[in-house]
Amino acid sequence: MPFKRNILCIGAGYVGGPTMAMIAFKCPQYKVTVVDINPERIAQWNSDDLPIYEPGLDQVVRAARGRNLFFSTEIEKGIQASDVIFVSVNTPTKNFGAGAGMAADLQYWDKTAREIRKYSRSNKIIVEKSTLPVKTAQAMERILTCGDTALSFDVLSNPEFLAEGTAIQDLENPDRVLIGSSQTAQGICARDVLVEIYANWVPREKIITSNIWSSELSKLVANAFLAQRISSVNSISALCEKADADVQEVARAVGMDSRVGAKFLNASVGFGGSCFKKDILNLVYICRYYDLREVADYWEGVVKINEYQKERFILNMLQVMFNTLAGKKICLFGFAFKADTGDTRESPAIQIAKRLMEERADLVITDPKAIDNAKEDLKGAIGNVTYVEDPLDATAGCCAIAVMTEWSLYKNLDYREIYRKMAKPAFIFDGRNILDHEALHNMGFNVFPIGKPPLTHF
Ligand code: UDX
Ligand code: UDX
Repeated sequence: MPFKRNILCIGAGYVGGPTMAMIAFKCPQYKVTVVDINPERIAQWNSDDLPIYEPGLDQVVRAARGRNLFFSTEIEKGIQASDVIFVSVNTPTKNFGAGAGMAADLQYWDKTAREIRKYSRSNKIIVEKSTLPVKTAQAMERILTCGDTALSFDVLSNPEFLAEGTAIQDLENPDRVLIGSSQTAQGICARDVLVEIYANWVPREKIITSNIWSSELSKLVANAFLAQRISSVNSISALCEKADADVQEVARAVGMDSRVGAKFLNASVGFGGSCFKKDILNLVYICRYYDLREVADYWEGVVKINEYQKERFILNMLQVMFNTLAGKKICLFGFAFKADTGDTRESPAIQIAKRLMEERADLVITDPKAIDNAKEDLKGAIGNVTYVEDPLDATAGCCAIAVMTEWSLYKNLDYREIYRKMAKPAFIFDGRNILDHEALHNMGFNVFPIGKPPLTHF
């Protein structure tokens, strides 16, 4: 039986791969093909060892792959055969020329638009999945429709709100699906095609529509608001440490106000991930472009507090460990930017590891999923670093443990045994406030949480 629709996704990354797997899983009537310029990545998607670790992803891919989900490097063929194309190529922060360090690098996006124009033989709906500066859809439409083409392309914005580690849950049961389109009759028609795809499993009232610019901007603003909450609570953690208050108690009291809400108020060593910093800097850049200086400065403050929080963590380690870390063995618990993922992009652990190496500490890094990425991230960094899979072995002979990632396995280790094998005095810096600080203190550790009074034996 022929498929009802041919859906293509360009970019088989953290967003494109899981999102398309879910569409294929939920909609056997559609053929979903995911293409990528990276043949190794495609080979991994076609193997039993998927390129990303995401709880539940294996089962979803296994159920649909070969049935109506295909991974391929044949971009030209994919474009020709499709009627809906999701574009999910990466849009990192630009590191050259105008806007370097702030603006989004749109070269892959631009190149993809040109490829779509070159290979298309029929009308298409193009869906922006990548996070993009506001008005990118307009640029894409101009690239697609320039020259003497008789084809029509409708560009929609459909930002992805999934978080890593919970991607499958978020895709299966999203808070909302946002679809932005032009408000012309043709734009609305295209929008309805996408609404119909999601309506296969998402309740209609959760599928919201808007004009295309609002949709593009909403993605940046959603991430900026989320990151702002973390920077807010992290800024207060610094004050708590001075004022003998407990940031978890403060966050609980504040978050119980239903107008504020309890989620995303965990003080930490800092936020990481491929999106928050990149998207806020992008927002800041757009505000500066429109000469909204105060607005730009306001949002830039969110990133500045995040940098401050990481640096504060390091300086605190240095100071309490008698102002020298040289030659001291320090174990990092976790390297991923959050639990339940192997992803280390913008992980606070990268900067902290590099700063500790600058202080000439000997690093031992352990993480259940991110050791390969950690090795890549620290390639070329000068200093001693070893990677040890087992956290118990990793801590032997160390002076300090610094918790970087909130993996739940770190909550239930045999800390008595760990303490026995560590150098004394033994320190724990809990950058995620996940451990039982009182119990650790009673075992003999000097414990330094975030935003709480330290528990020491001095
Ligand atoms: C994507 C978007 O890039 C980002 O803007 C958004 O915030 C989240 O979704 P992600 O899926 O995490 O990010 O990116 P990544 O894992 O790097 O995947 C992008 C894929 O696109 C890579 O596999 C890359 O090989 C592929 N790609 C890139 C192409 O297929 N063609 C290109 O021209 C460029
Ligand atoms: C984020 C958004 O949540 C998601 O909607 C968007 O699509 C992509 O960006 P992600 O980066 O995958 O998702 O993870 P998220 O759970 O938001 O965590 C980001 C960072 O904030 C992590 O480093 C996490 O540890 C940190 N964090 C989160 C805190 O430090 N405190 C908190 O209370 C919550």
